[in-house]
Amino acid sequence: MKEERVTVYAGSFDPITNGHLDLLERALKMFDNIIIAVAENPAKEPLFTLEERLELIRASLSNHPEPHRIKVDSFKGLLVDYVEKCGAMAILRGLRAVSDFEYEFQMALMNRKLNRRPETLYLMTGARWIYISSRIIKEVVQAGGSVTGLVPEAVEKKLREKMLDKIN
Ligand code: PNS
Repeated sequence: MKEERVTVYAGSFDPITNGHLDLLERALKMFDNIIIAVAENPAKEPLFTLEERLELIRASLSNHPEPHRIKVDSFKGLLVDYVEKCGAMAILRGLRAVSDFEYEFQMALMNRKLNRRPETLYLMTGARWIYISSRIIKEVVQAGGSVTGLVPEAVEKKLREKMLDKIN
């Protein structure tokens, strides 16, 4: 029987954006299964709790035509250890611009130093989403701007609720 090609799409996903979803769709053409792995990463002080981030990813994928090929999970500690536990062949990351490169290069090399087995695979972010990031999305909403069309509806709604909570 053919071995399944599994990759771990790791990140903070604080929150998931349409850029992440675009990358996921393109990666589904190359892999049999994709594990979206949300890092707990307490050092990063995310806006959304881990549970909220997982919930928003699940809500964003609720109408996905092939849900059986996508698993939404979280991990603590080293990414390479999680990847090993899953038996995945690769770590998937998106790359937007030159500014992402240094950090990504450092991370890929450190991960390889820690474990040589999984490859880190980069996909260029779709041109439509090249300027968006979770950070800039939060900044725009915080300042009262609209992010319609840039994030899934569930995320937009939750972002507005979060901001109102912060004001009140
Ligand atoms: O979306 P992000 O915040 O750029 O994702 C970064 C992430 C979560 C992939 C990275 O911080 C990570 O892998 N954290 C887990 C800890 C780890 O393994 N660190 C060593 C890799 S440099």
